[in-house]
Amino acid sequence: MRSFLFLLGGNRRDGNTETLARHAAAALPPDVGQRWLRLDDHPLPPFQDIRHTGDGLYPVPEGAAKLLADATLDATDLVIVSPLYWYSVSATTKLYLDHWSAWMRVPGYDFKARMAGKTVWAVTTISEEDESVADPLIGTLRLSAEYFGSWGGALVGYANRPGDILRDTGALERAAAFFGPGAARRASRASDPAPG
Ligand SMILES: Cc1cc2nc3c(=O)[nH]c(=O)nc-3n(C[C@H](O)[C@H](O)[C@H](O)COP(=O)(O)O)c2cc1C
Repeated sequence: MRSFLFLLGGNRRDGNTETLARHAAAALPPDVGQRWLRLDDHPLPPFQDIRHTGDGLYPVPEGAAKLLADATLDATDLVIVSPLYWYSVSATTKLYLDHWSAWMRVPGYDFKARMAGKTVWAVTTISEEDESVADPLIGTLRLSAEYFGSWGGALVGYANRPGDILRDTGALERAAAFFGPGAARRASRASDPAPG
């Protein structure tokens, strides 16, 4: 069964980026699972690079890290919902991505192989007029997605103060189609058994 995990990486409640993501999610068919997690509600510990120390393996994650790792592995589709912060993802979102490097090295998790079947999407809002300012964020997420699995695409809206996104009717229209027929195709591929 298809199931979308929405990871909210903004650092304020009811932000524009979440609103835009909720518009996109509203168009998903009812039989598609949706889970929403706010990264601020599940603070991750600082990431430590022990790849080249000892056996290079990481312990099984605990607490917030376990919740987020398990939620990630349970989903067929991951939607990174992050405002544009200094041309990239929020620090909270980046920390979550860094932890993928740990989860790849947890014995028994098969994180990389299980990620191979997933599609990663991005939803962001920007306050500058030129949409190209989101290119670094999109590049970060697209390349990371392709390292593991598939890239679904990016949805970008214009907003600054809370609620502004509701005036970006173009973005709301794109949101309604964002996970459209292409999503169904990708998600059916994503539900195939992961290699290895
Ligand atoms: C720390 C920080 C950095 C930001 N950097 C940028 C930026 O580089 N480019 C931009 O267009 N907007 C930038 N913004 C504006 C936000 O992207 C914009 O207000 C967005 O709508 C906030 O999303 P939210 O309502 O979901 O929190 C920044 C905002 C903050 C708080």
